[in-house]
Amino acid sequence: MPTDADEDAQWRRVLMEELRQNVNGDNDSSMASNSNRSMVAAAGIVAGVSVLVGLQFPFLFPKSAPYMATPGPKIRHALKFLKKTRRRDSDKNPSQPPVFVDLGSGDGQAVYEAARLGYRAIGIEFNWTLWAISSMRRQLFWTRQEKALSSFLRQDFHSYNLKNADTIMIFAIPKTMPILGSKIQLECGPGTDILAYRFGIPLAIDNSDSDLSQDKPSRPLDESEQAVRLHADLIYDRADMRIYRTKFKV
Ligand SMILES: C[S@@+](CC[C@H](N)C(=O)[O-])C[C@H]1O[C@@H](n2cnc3c(N)ncnc32)[C@H](O)[C@@H]1O
Ligand SMILES: *[C@@H]1O[C@H](CO)[C@@H](O)[C@H](O)[C@H]1NC(C)=O
Repeated sequence: MPTDADEDAQWRRVLMEELRQNVNGDNDSSMASNSNRSMVAAAGIVAGVSVLVGLQFPFLFPKSAPYMATPGPKIRHALKFLKKTRRRDSDKNPSQPPVFVDLGSGDGQAVYEAARLGYRAIGIEFNWTLWAISSMRRQLFWTRQEKALSSFLRQDFHSYNLKNADTIMIFAIPKTMPILGSKIQLECGPGTDILAYRFGIPLAIDNSDSDLSQDKPSRPLDESEQAVRLHADLIYDRADMRIYRTKFKV
């Protein structure tokens, strides 16, 4: 038979057990807020990773990138074609890497392809969001070498002087193409390569014209003379990508 003392002890144990459970209960609630906190942290990590994945592979999130981009392989293919055909002595500064300028650089893919192939690659982009995305991709994912060779400028490409560009990339709306054609005639010398995706640029001339030479004229041309005399050969035309190479019409 249990004595009163035994019963007392048993009750005390039960009470202690309950107390402990309450304390545990407190612990439980603090664990709950901990797990709330870790859920917030997890959500933050998921969001962060999505942003990173979205930055690296924007095509996975078509709604967040409604603008049009040139597929990377088409740029790579065109640049590799150029590497085979370029005369190094026609570069503006043969001792430096050739200069690639993307007019309207969007998510920065073309600049990346060019930097990877050893160009000094410059992207010009006036949309702040796209400029920020391309700059973040560069900062987070590109190698030190690719970073050293590349930059993104947030400005209107109409006000960017193309005189140092060896290779220019354009994927713009059709009505911009004649304006850019005139800009190139004014600012670029002969031997400049222009990649135009989708829409042609009015620079090309009939190749059967035998009056053409890539030689520099005997005296410097003034601006208006250069503008009428700079034309281009269409040297590549494949899968919506064209490459023009400028020269003087003599
Ligand atoms: C069709 S996307 C091409 C993007 C990239 N060059 C490519 O080929 O994948 C055209 C880009 O040009 C930019 N753009 C259009 N007009 C511009 C201007 N006047 N100055 C700078 N950027 C411009 C747009 O914001 C857009 O990012
Ligand atoms: C900039 O580009 C983004 C992504 O294409 C677009 O959603 C946004 O409307 C553009 N902003 C301006 C001011 O054009």
